[in-house]
Amino acid sequence: MKLITNIHQLLVTGSFDTPVAGAALKQMPYIENAFLLIDQDRIYDYGTMEDMHPIAVDEVIDATGQIVLPMWCDSHTHLVYAQGREKEFVDRINGLSYQEIAARGGGILNSAKKLREMDMEPLYEAAASRLEQLIALGTGAIEIKSGYGLSLAAEGKMLEVIARLKSNFNIPIKATLLAAHAIPEAYATNREGYIECIAKEMIPAFAKAKRCDFIDIFCESGYFTVAELHTILAAGVAHGLRPKVHVNQFNAIGGVAAAVSHNALSVDHLEQLTQEDIKALQGSQTIAVALPGCSFFLGIPYTPARRIIDAGLPIAIASDFNPGSAPSGNMNFVVSQACINLKMTPAEAILAATINGAFAMDVAQETGSITKNKKANLIMTPKLSSYQAIPYHFGQHQIAQLIINGEFV
Ligand code: NIG
Ligand code: FE
Repeated sequence: MKLITNIHQLLVTGSFDTPVAGAALKQMPYIENAFLLIDQDRIYDYGTMEDMHPIAVDEVIDATGQIVLPMWCDSHTHLVYAQGREKEFVDRINGLSYQEIAARGGGILNSAKKLREMDMEPLYEAAASRLEQLIALGTGAIEIKSGYGLSLAAEGKMLEVIARLKSNFNIPIKATLLAAHAIPEAYATNREGYIECIAKEMIPAFAKAKRCDFIDIFCESGYFTVAELHTILAAGVAHGLRPKVHVNQFNAIGGVAAAVSHNALSVDHLEQLTQEDIKALQGSQTIAVALPGCSFFLGIPYTPARRIIDAGLPIAIASDFNPGSAPSGNMNFVVSQACINLKMTPAEAILAATINGAFAMDVAQETGSITKNKKANLIMTPKLSSYQAIPYHFGQHQIAQLIINGEFV
């Protein structure tokens, strides 16, 4: 047993049966002057220092002035990729748009070409090294998508890399099949053929092999239509894969309501958001996920988080880490951006990046809050006046110590 005493503020405490939504997000559930007891890899007990009962422990850590919170839960990443796309970065600086670069054969197809040429081993090594960096920045659970393969073999290679990450890293990792990320060159004149290949070959094969937990599609003008979304999500759901969907990044074309009709776990991006989209989300079991790093990097509008929260809905925030639209997986920066650009309060942003992120990738049973029996995956900050200082110092992080599965790392 390890005992942490005199914690200035212990954040995201309590039990959570559902994501935190609407006005409830304003209220950070936390304990001042707290203790936290860890038994092996789990949270055993916590409370105020006054309520602490004497107990025999192996180690006592004094956390006077420090804040303790759950590690970040990053529910949307494309961590597995072959190479960065710095050239496109420069092309955008020189005036081209994301869509113009994609139309020239750049973008997702560029990443797919490089990934197909790369062997499993270096692909795994690159992804593992990125994941190590993210964990050091406080990410304690992560979702990772395929989507740079765009063929049965290459999507399989990506999912195998994710499977290896799952077995070699001791944090919760979820895999999402995003074969419907772009139409590959081989099917340029036969998109129906590619949709059929995903629905009839990839989904059954990868679901049977338990290579993926979720199904995704990039529903967007120039990528996949709402009709194609229905086909792919229905096939996924029939094979036990709950949808987590890319929608409304550049255009609102009805993808939100369509995703909700398949009981999507999350709808991600939402830089464009209509009143109909909000209505579709109300009363659903679908979580809105904002990706402010993508808006920042591409210079596109930010997700209207206030409208989402004021409509009484839950919201999660995630990094979208990928080589094209968000080449950073730093959740500390994402939390700052949620405050600065999405006008979320520090309480809202921290809840969106922990417990709500955990719900948005179905790991909330295990992590995302300070709850008895959950994994002891924790961030200890240096001495801070209050948790509001965590997002305040943007571009930095407030991590003095990480505790992963009950171990100081
Ligand atoms: O979430 N929008 C679709 N997919 C990614 C970007 C993919 C890429 O450009 O490589 C995203 O932004
Ligand atoms: Fe994405």
